[in-house]
This record gives sequence, C-alpha cells and structure tokens, in this order.
Amino acid sequence: MHRRGFLVAGLATALAGSRALAQMKMDGMSDMDSMPGMGGHAGHDMGAMGAMGQSPTALPQGEALRELPPLANEAGRSGLFRARLTAEPATARFVADRETPILAYNGMSPGPLIEAYEGDRVEITFANRIGDEPSTIHWHGMPVPADQDGNPMDPVAAGADRAYAFELPEGSAGSYWYHPHPHGRTAEQVYRGLAGAFVVKAKADPVPAAYGDTVLMFTDLRLAADGSMPDNTMTDLMNGRVGDHVLVNGQKNPKLTVAMGARRRLRLYNATNARFLRLAFGNAAMTVIGSDGGLLEKPVAADEILLSPAERIELVVAFDKPGTASLTTLAYDRGWMGPGRPEDAGLTLLTVEVSDAPAEAMPPLPERLRPIAPLAAPTVSRRLVFTETMAMNATGMEMGFLINGKAFDMGRVDIVAKAGETELWEIVNQADMDHPFHLHGTQFQVVERERGGKVSKPPYLAWKDTVNVARGETVRLITRQERPGPRMYHCHILEHEQLGMMGIVDVQA
Ligand code: C2O
Ligand code: CU
Ligand code: CU
Repeated sequence: MHRRGFLVAGLATALAGSRALAQMKMDGMSDMDSMPGMGGHAGHDMGAMGAMGQSPTALPQGEALRELPPLANEAGRSGLFRARLTAEPATARFVADRETPILAYNGMSPGPLIEAYEGDRVEITFANRIGDEPSTIHWHGMPVPADQDGNPMDPVAAGADRAYAFELPEGSAGSYWYHPHPHGRTAEQVYRGLAGAFVVKAKADPVPAAYGDTVLMFTDLRLAADGSMPDNTMTDLMNGRVGDHVLVNGQKNPKLTVAMGARRRLRLYNATNARFLRLAFGNAAMTVIGSDGGLLEKPVAADEILLSPAERIELVVAFDKPGTASLTTLAYDRGWMGPGRPEDAGLTLLTVEVSDAPAEAMPPLPERLRPIAPLAAPTVSRRLVFTETMAMNATGMEMGFLINGKAFDMGRVDIVAKAGETELWEIVNQADMDHPFHLHGTQFQVVERERGGKVSKPPYLAWKDTVNVARGETVRLITRQERPGPRMYHCHILEHEQLGMMGIVDVQA
C-alpha cells in the first residue's frame, strides 16, 4: 500500500505548492482500480481528503425553475449600469436538513444575473469579503480593456474593494459570464459557488420577445454526508472536478411548465469546472441561434449539442408535443485518467411539462439573425501544443499540464501580438484528455478541425471565446485583439488552468 502513500503525499504537494505540477504515482493509473478503496466514484477515491465511502447525497428534484435574480442597476439613468458585487461566505440548503457553506456573490450562487445593453457603460465595484484569500472578477468573453479583465496579475486583496469599468460596444450582445480568476485559487472559488451570468442585450433584437429569454446556468456540486463540499481530490486535479450533481440555476432537475406550441429562448451556460455536457432535448425541437459571443447569422436545427466547460449556446426550443420534454445528457468520452470515471449519460437536467392547452400563436424566428463578417486573412500564425506530461522524481510521478512544453508563469510573456492584426492560432491537443481552449479579450472564429488526418469545417460561422479541442485533435481559429495589454489563454478545466495549462499573450499597441 505504499503506492497510496505516494498519492497522498503527492496530493498534499499539489495542493500546498504553487508549482504547476500535480504529483501522481508512477506506474499505471489503471491498477488503482484493483486497489481496495480506490475504484469508487470520483468524489470518493481519496478518503483522506474527501468524503470516503459515501454515496452521493440525494437532492430534491422537480421544483419550479427559478430564473436567476437580476442585479439591480443603481445608476438611475439609461446608458449606465452601476452596481456592487460582494463575494463572501454564505450557506445554501441543497438538502433540507443540512447547511452547506458556500461562496456567493451578493449572497447568491449562481450570482445575480447582470443584464445590460450594447452601448452601456458598466461600473461595478467588487468587494472581496471571501476571507483571507485574493480574488478578482473576470468578465469571461467580454470585450473589456486588459486592465479591467480581472486577470491573475491584477488581484483584489482579501477585504479590499475594486472598481471595474468598461463600455459595451455596439455589436457585443451575447451570453457572457463572470467568475473569479486569482492565481492558484480559481478552481476552488468557482466550485464553491462563485459564478454568474452577464447578458448583453441588443438594442434591436431579431428574436421574438414572445419566446422569453431564460438563462440556464449549469454548475456542478459534490456534497459530503454532512452537507459540506469536499476539497479537490487527486482525481479532481488530474481530470478536473466532476461532482455528483449537475444543477440548473442552483436547482437539481427543476421543472418548467409551458403551453403546447410555445417557443422558448434559452441561454445555456456550462459554468462547471470540468463537466462536458452533451445534451439532447427529448420531445422538443432545438434550434441553435447563438454561441458564446452572440447570435449566429441564421438559425441552425440541432439534434444534440456539446457544451464543454465555459461554453455557452443560445437555443430556441419548440414545445409542440404535449407531455414531458426533458433536457438530458448523452454519453461523451472526453478522456479520463485513473479510476472514478463519472457516469455522464442519462442525467435529466431540466424537465419541461408541456400542457395540452395551446399557446398563443408565436411569431416565427426570422431566417436571418445578423451578419457575421469573416475575419480578414491572417498575417501571423501561432501553434499551441497542449500536453500532459509525467516525469519521475524522488516522491513519485509529477504530472504537468503544459502549453508548448511550459507551465504557466505569471512573470513570463509567451506570445507578443499586435493590436488589430488578424492571427491564425492552431491549437494542437497531443494529450489524452479533451481541453477546452479559452482566450481572453476577444471573440474568435473557428476555421477548421483536424483529427486523424481528416479536416472538417464547423457547421456555422460563430463568435466564440471557448472551443473544445478533443484529444488528438487540432483546432484552427482566427482571432484579432483590438486593445493592448496582457491577455490570458488557457484550458477552461479550471484544475488544469490552475496546474499550469495557461499562457499570456501580450498585445501591443
Ligand atoms: Cu472563464 Cu480565463 O476564464
Ligand atoms: Cu475568460
Ligand atoms: Cu484541460
């Protein structure tokens, strides 16, 4: 059993150190399956650090879906959105008789929904009242200046306030979100509850208002029997934390009731640390209308969608058949290291009851939503190779999550780019797991994917800030940064980001 000793010692090192390496044992992870107590569920394989031997706690299901409460605008005039966001410890009641310590924005998890309009100025004062750790607010996907982006080089100390201010340009309407991004603490702060949706609305929106506009924010929860959230285990560090429950707006499998024939506009957010959501809507027809950075050119029908960590998608769902329509997960193999691969198929995330009474006639979705200009031909090209490495040292195996052979270093600039220049980025995944690639500061366009020598084009042109790069796959995208300053790019499995799979592009004026 000394192997287990390696693992535990390694885990302690990874948790305590700021170095971008997780330790793991040296010979074949797979034989851990045969070790007593090591073959269980992802949450329970490291008893010393987590909730040993407990099956997932049951959560109530079927409550009416809660819409995310909006963050009130204190400005009192149009054109300006002004508010305060306080990150602080709070408690939640996921199970009736137990309180769960969480982290919350303004007492809520997910945080309040921020809704502003294109052309608005946004002024949000962030108060870090988490306790004794730094935090930031990162405006994921939003076109904000580098010094307002809440990146790890710009921490907000424990107890401090920080004013973030930026303008929302015309054409920026889209489904963004906000979350902490402090060096070495992002994964924990997010899985403990800090994440919220930021919807930028268009002044003239082509999608009929009768469809409504509902954010469905998916988060991931693991609860120990006492109601607490266990710390990350070795399995979590390697694969990213995958908990026992997927929640929608903080609820497990909530219920939505609609009239037959209704159409609903839904914005789906994957705000989990590491869950890949391959989704289908049984008994209802899905049409994709938008991506991370706003509307597509035209609606595209879809039988299923894959939403990797941090991605968003905008759908119109048509509920034409009376009865039950469920949003469920399908199996998706994203690569898994060691034991405890989670059951990811067959989960019901949302249940829609479609009544027999017909809805009032709904206006049709227009055939064209908005133009998307393809970016100009790139003048520079870059290649980013993602690898997971293992190297032996005195205590066992060190595992690294690397980009171009390097782990993240806050003091190092990895790429120097020029504002306004179009670049081709080739993201090469030579690792054994999928890695969702995210770039700060701008939206990009995926040009093609290559896997096993086969090149495929994306089904539609879209603005994206996060794209899954499957194991063994290369994704080519074109991007242009408009503003100067340092920007992060990283894997959005937050444990991988934290363990080194991140770099800095310095954009020069
Ligand atoms: Cu959603 Cu660098 O983050
Ligand atoms: Cu981001
Ligand atoms: Cu990753």
